[in-house]
Amino acid sequence: MKVSVLATLTVLAVCVSAVPAPVPHVVHEKRSTQMQKWSRRDVKLSRDTIIPVSIGLAQSNLDNGYDFLMDVSHPGSPNFGKHWSTEKIKQTFAPSKDTIAAVKSWLIDTGIDSDRITLSKSMTWVKFDATIGEAESLLKTEYNVYTHATTGDDFLAVEEYSVPAHVQDKIDFITPTVHFDLAVKSKSKRTDLEGRAVETIKTKRPIPQIQPDPLRVPLSSVKFNLTNCDRYITPECLQTLYQLPNGTAGAATYSVVEYTPQTYIQSDLDLVFKTLGLPIPAGTGPSPIDFIDGAVLQFQEEGFNVNGESNLDLTYAIGLLYPQNVGLYQVGDLVEGASFNNFLDALDASYCTYEGGDDPTEDGVYPDPYPGGYTKQDCGTVAPAQVISTSYGYNEADLTAFYEQRQCNEYMKLGLAGVSVLYSSGDYGVAGNGGKCCVNPGCAGGEYNNGGSGSFNPSFPSTCPYVTSVGATQVKHDYSVTATKPEAACETVIYSGGGFSNVFPMPAYQADAVGFYFTHHTPDQYNSTIYNDSQKARGFPDVSANGANYVIAVDGTLSLVYGTSASSPVFGSVVTMINNERLAAGKGPVGFLNPTLYANPSALNDITLGDNQGCGTQGFRAVKGWDPLTGLGTPNYPALLEVFMALP
Ligand SMILES: *[C@@H]1O[C@H](CO)[C@@H](O)[C@H](O)[C@H]1NC(C)=O
Ligand SMILES: *[C@@H]1O[C@H](CO)[C@@H](O)[C@H](O)[C@H]1NC(C)=O
Ligand SMILES: *[C@@H]1O[C@H](CO)[C@@H](O)[C@H](O)[C@H]1NC(C)=O
Ligand SMILES: *[C@@H]1O[C@H](CO)[C@@H](O)[C@H](O)[C@H]1NC(C)=O
Repeated sequence: MKVSVLATLTVLAVCVSAVPAPVPHVVHEKRSTQMQKWSRRDVKLSRDTIIPVSIGLAQSNLDNGYDFLMDVSHPGSPNFGKHWSTEKIKQTFAPSKDTIAAVKSWLIDTGIDSDRITLSKSMTWVKFDATIGEAESLLKTEYNVYTHATTGDDFLAVEEYSVPAHVQDKIDFITPTVHFDLAVKSKSKRTDLEGRAVETIKTKRPIPQIQPDPLRVPLSSVKFNLTNCDRYITPECLQTLYQLPNGTAGAATYSVVEYTPQTYIQSDLDLVFKTLGLPIPAGTGPSPIDFIDGAVLQFQEEGFNVNGESNLDLTYAIGLLYPQNVGLYQVGDLVEGASFNNFLDALDASYCTYEGGDDPTEDGVYPDPYPGGYTKQDCGTVAPAQVISTSYGYNEADLTAFYEQRQCNEYMKLGLAGVSVLYSSGDYGVAGNGGKCCVNPGCAGGEYNNGGSGSFNPSFPSTCPYVTSVGATQVKHDYSVTATKPEAACETVIYSGGGFSNVFPMPAYQADAVGFYFTHHTPDQYNSTIYNDSQKARGFPDVSANGANYVIAVDGTLSLVYGTSASSPVFGSVVTMINNERLAAGKGPVGFLNPTLYANPSALNDITLGDNQGCGTQGFRAVKGWDPLTGLGTPNYPALLEVFMALP
């Protein structure tokens, strides 16, 4: 008896002396207020539940990323167009050996055995499986189950977490923590081999920026021609508005991105091409199609909500460019779905969060653990096209600043590689998806109201300074476009998304244009409680293109659609025409567009009419020069071509 007590004491003493002195922790990420759409559930998770923990390591040289990108993208730079190789990009930004060592030794010191820790091949993630108990003590936090108000999905998340001060600057962010990306599936849906409930990630899906025609105007008897472009937009209208040539088969590459279950329908493309008399043979669809993370073209579900976006993007990209090929990145399986990060993983192995085949981390989980899900992962498996257009978005306040900065830096790297990345700017004016606005100034806490008041709610990734954000315009009513007439900001069904970021500072390339806007048109009816009026925030969109009254077919019926979803693929088609000309002249693709566009505003048609109301306000007004709803304006193809052909 005595002996055993003593033995116990001895063991305890050894344990105590083996524990290092506590290191001071600092809060690394937190939500400032409880998010309205999430409620914390009163369920206690077993502290033995195993979760996959991923630590995103701080990369080297990110501070220089802007300058690196300007060096190859600014029209005044002697190195314009000298894009970087994938290997040079990877080497330049890889986390340093010191960073990796410091994070590993922190984990080992706190009791995570070194053989449990893996480093991703790209050397950007440290990963390990941990029990909730271990993760809680490591990050000085508490995991709880949160239920999403509308979807009812349960997620595992924390309010805030901490890391030791000496490793904070070596860590980008840690998942799963504050991001609501580790979903807790209902037990009946998913069990492990022994029948125990297992948690898996469910992706927060990006939202298509498209709206149907609320009036359901019947189109079967309409004659579409240049006299009625104010009511029906067709490729012919766009050609006339932007002085575009007919398509030619060139060497440039261009792909649009679609997120499953969104799917295009070939017979719908055929129907529009035939109805509009375009010289495009039936059966002409996207080529090549890259299926990413088990993506499929699904036909179980049909209708505007799953076919509208893909049909629109492809009808107009192909409609403007044929016989040029237009590619499709179809992303995400039917079970899990995907986010922008999953797509970026497929383009760039060094961004990929999934190495080793069994580590679910950020965003969609691939290999997908759900029955019927994709059993592999796409990591650096797809070469980026020279122009990539995406018509989906999040509210900037849906995601944390850390998460967004990391993704934004990836767009910077794509720019270094010579890729033009375009995103639609949103369809709700100064409000966010669904017309919602922020309860708190600066959208702190990501709480939304129903849109009648509140703070402006900017859209991500449009607020990332390394993408080209495309807003929406419309032909003014009762104007035919047989003569070139200026458009107005879109005020039909949708309002062009635009405003100022609460996360990203203003990039130098737009400082003059945005400075001019504030000097001459400061919207002084608004103060800092309604938007970031510091004149130091990234303004968006950068440019615009028509976004109203597009004629498409959905499930065999011609109909009209609206949205910056149309504007982005149209602008991308224009850039592709320019790339075709540059490649034919022995030059490279244009790459990151913004520095050249802002240095040559007269190559765009300035839009000076209309507003982008939302949040119970008139929003911003389109004015002379750049404005936060139509950017620098719509494409003037001959002028843009001249600018880009004059560059090396
Ligand atoms: C153009 O369409 C309008 C309206 O559908 C029609 O009245 C007009 O005749 C058409 N013009 C031509 C030249 O086809
Ligand atoms: C485009 O092709 C059509 C014939 O399909 C022709 O009528 C038209 O003039 C061409 N447009 C341009 C700008 O070359
Ligand atoms: C406004 O944006 C600037 C630049 O990004 C930032 O420094 C500032 O904190 C923002 N202000 C608010 C109130 O969010
Ligand atoms: C901003 O304007 C609103 C009314 O438009 C007002 O209630 C609020 O006090 C103002 N805030 C500041 C900081 O001036």
